Amino acid sequence: MKRHDIVTIILSQAAHQEPPQKRQGRAFAPANIALCKYWGKRDEELNLPHTPSLSISLGQLGTETTVAFTEGEADLVTLNGKSIDPGSDFHCRIISFIDLFRTVEGPRWRIDTRNSIPTAAGLASSASGFAALVKALNDWFDWGLDPQTQSILARLGSGSACRSVLDGFVLWHEGSAPDGMDSFAERLDITWPEFRIGLWTLSTDRKPVSSRVAMKRTVDTSILYQSWPEQCRQDLARMKQAMEDRDLSAVGRIAEQNALAMHATGLGAWPPVLFWLPESVEAMKTVWMLREQGLEVYLTMDAGPNVKLIFNQRDEAAIRESVPTLKTIAPFGDG
Ligand code: PMV
Repeated sequence: MKRHDIVTIILSQAAHQEPPQKRQGRAFAPANIALCKYWGKRDEELNLPHTPSLSISLGQLGTETTVAFTEGEADLVTLNGKSIDPGSDFHCRIISFIDLFRTVEGPRWRIDTRNSIPTAAGLASSASGFAALVKALNDWFDWGLDPQTQSILARLGSGSACRSVLDGFVLWHEGSAPDGMDSFAERLDITWPEFRIGLWTLSTDRKPVSSRVAMKRTVDTSILYQSWPEQCRQDLARMKQAMEDRDLSAVGRIAEQNALAMHATGLGAWPPVLFWLPESVEAMKTVWMLREQGLEVYLTMDAGPNVKLIFNQRDEAAIRESVPTLKTIAPFGDG
């Protein structure tokens, strides 16, 4: 099935199907960090995963997007106030996504995006980007789609984007239907005001291999990938329980082991996939040293060299002493 078929099915159930009545649509979506990772697709076109995954949305940190018609002859995409080169990957990805929602003959569109996170630095900006775009379209066209359906649309842009439609702890159900209608995100009913995420940015350079390419190569060539789906399912069940118990040591340990196992599957691929810089390894060692000294701090990493820390509010000051550049996020507000 093609992405366009899914969009057609979903929009046939929308509250309004006519052209937008408002001048523009606008929405914000948070970035998210997976604590149990999504790694590997069973369907490349629809971004359907082999496993479920679980993330935390990063509160006010994310993407704000505005969508409107433009009188110009060409589509215009801006990022943080600067227009994007129409030949760039970023531009092409956005245009091919919005083409799913419009006809060739209509007026051209202007899409303004503002990120409060570095783009493509492994901090999931494509996730908040596609989630904000879908929410802005829902606002503009007044479709009245529920968050579950919006998450299905966001997934068509980037897998992890389906989790960025929601706040807090978010579970992405893997689903089994070939059309992916049962592969959507859902917010867990857990509030944990003391829970903290720290962003330890080591490089804002564009990553050399995209997560799409890395995942495919890993699924196709890494023998270590065979154990991944089973580990994921076990990690996820234990993680949910640990979150319900507000058990930081368990959440941190499961998240760290899950992330390192994901990176290990990449090392087993051919050609090998390695996202780490020497600075990433140094950062990991610092975290392990802090833990030996008695601090409850854990790490996770995505398809890039940056390290994200997981800890409790009470340890923030002590962690900051060793990592002064850390950007701390309180996903449930200040606890
Ligand atoms: O949504 P994508 O294609 O950018 O993939 C994201 C993959 C990871 O960030 C590595 C893991 C995850 O679950 O977010």
